[in-house]
Amino acid sequence: MLSAKLTCNSHGQDSSYFLGWEEYEKNPYDEIKNPKGIIQMGLAENQLSFDLLESWLVQNTQPMAFKNHNNQSIFKELALFQDYHGLPAFKNALVKFMSEIRGGSVSFDPNNLVLTAGATSVNETLMFCLANPGDAFLLPTPYYPGFDRDLKWRTGAEIVPIHCSSIYGFRITKSTLEEAYKQAEKQNLKVQGVLVTNPSNPLGTTLSLHELDLLVSFISSKNIHLISDEIYSGTVFSSPSFISIMEVLKNKKLMNTEIAKQVHIVYSLSKDLGLPGFRIGAIYSNDERVVSAATKMSSFGLVSSQTQYLLSEILSNQKFTKTYLSENRRRLKERHEMLVKGLKRSGIACLPSNSGLFCWVDMSHLLSSNTFEGEMELWKKIVYEVGLNISPGSSCHCSEPGWFRVCFANMSEETLNLAMKRVKAFVDSMAKQNNNSGHQKLMKRNSRRTKSQPKWVFELSFHQRQILADER
Ligand SMILES: Cc1ncc(COP(=O)(O)O)c(C=O)c1O
Repeated sequence: MLSAKLTCNSHGQDSSYFLGWEEYEKNPYDEIKNPKGIIQMGLAENQLSFDLLESWLVQNTQPMAFKNHNNQSIFKELALFQDYHGLPAFKNALVKFMSEIRGGSVSFDPNNLVLTAGATSVNETLMFCLANPGDAFLLPTPYYPGFDRDLKWRTGAEIVPIHCSSIYGFRITKSTLEEAYKQAEKQNLKVQGVLVTNPSNPLGTTLSLHELDLLVSFISSKNIHLISDEIYSGTVFSSPSFISIMEVLKNKKLMNTEIAKQVHIVYSLSKDLGLPGFRIGAIYSNDERVVSAATKMSSFGLVSSQTQYLLSEILSNQKFTKTYLSENRRRLKERHEMLVKGLKRSGIACLPSNSGLFCWVDMSHLLSSNTFEGEMELWKKIVYEVGLNISPGSSCHCSEPGWFRVCFANMSEETLNLAMKRVKAFVDSMAKQNNNSGHQKLMKRNSRRTKSQPKWVFELSFHQRQILADER
């Protein structure tokens, strides 16, 4: 009596990514009420700069009171507004903000923008526009676990992994792209495009110019789409700087070509401004047919006019956006350093990263066996014994066991310090449990990894690694 959609399990709710959230909900850490509870480090939320937004609201009271600059009520106007093209003032302010994040190197046309309720809805809408049920998109691994739900569940589209390896710092190479394409063909799937996150969730790294060039050549040679999810574009806190796919198109003088029409950008204010509850997402597409269809589809998940009005006021204040972006980046950088240093004290290394709200952490030396069963066993210990919810690499479809995504921007400094103390106590107790020779082996392995050549060989320039990869 119920639909097949209801009973199919492609939503991904049973992934350890979501199970970890459930465990956290049952026993959430609170400094006073539940000091032994689970600390949530599996949630990519940016809570570091709320004070900046809150002080703006204190100084600018009209938007929250439904008033315009002349102090006249606009309540009725906003309450009745329901045009799915969105408030022009908001779209203008949003494209300027997107351009500001990219250092003014590219500009965006508000007519190419479609507003929807968050990037979750954006990604699904793009699938509805670009793929038929059973068609495939290629995604580099590890990838954001929510994509199984957002891209596949209701649309019937498929994901084929582009397996990226730690040896190349999980970078995209020509051979991994070609391999994924072949795999899709073997499965009789029609490849409609590639979807990347830049900066990457879960790696916290930005795509290099070399990777972006590769992607443009690849989609051009196969005549397929490229979706670039740039939801973390405002979180890049250190070099190398962020290069948007739009910049690549512009520099290659491809802006008015068919290739540009095959490229679509995903954006949202959930991460850069830390407003996931407001549900503000946007598609930017150079193909007017996609813009038109996506605009019609946006009826199913519009951004409320009240939210659009408030954000148009915040974002059109360029003095504020400038200060916000630089201060938020500074705070993210500081937090990132705290996490990297804290983990290092326990002999745990992170993939070098420059963006995002998380680190991609290598705990493979703590596995009882180099398998995904070993990874699950370690994850359960970390959740239940150590009291930290982190996301296992397998939930991000990583092809190598032992990697975990650890978030650092959704808690206070004190909580992060406590989390690091818990990790240290855990690693020390593991070392004690092992016999002396086992412990020495562990320490030797760690010092090998940190002092000499690390697992991902980051001493080699990316270009050198690329040559190695393409020669294979
Ligand atoms: C890469 C990526 N895309 C999309 C989303 C969904 O974001 P939103 O809250 O705007 O729906 C997330 C959220 O974590 C994400 O990391």
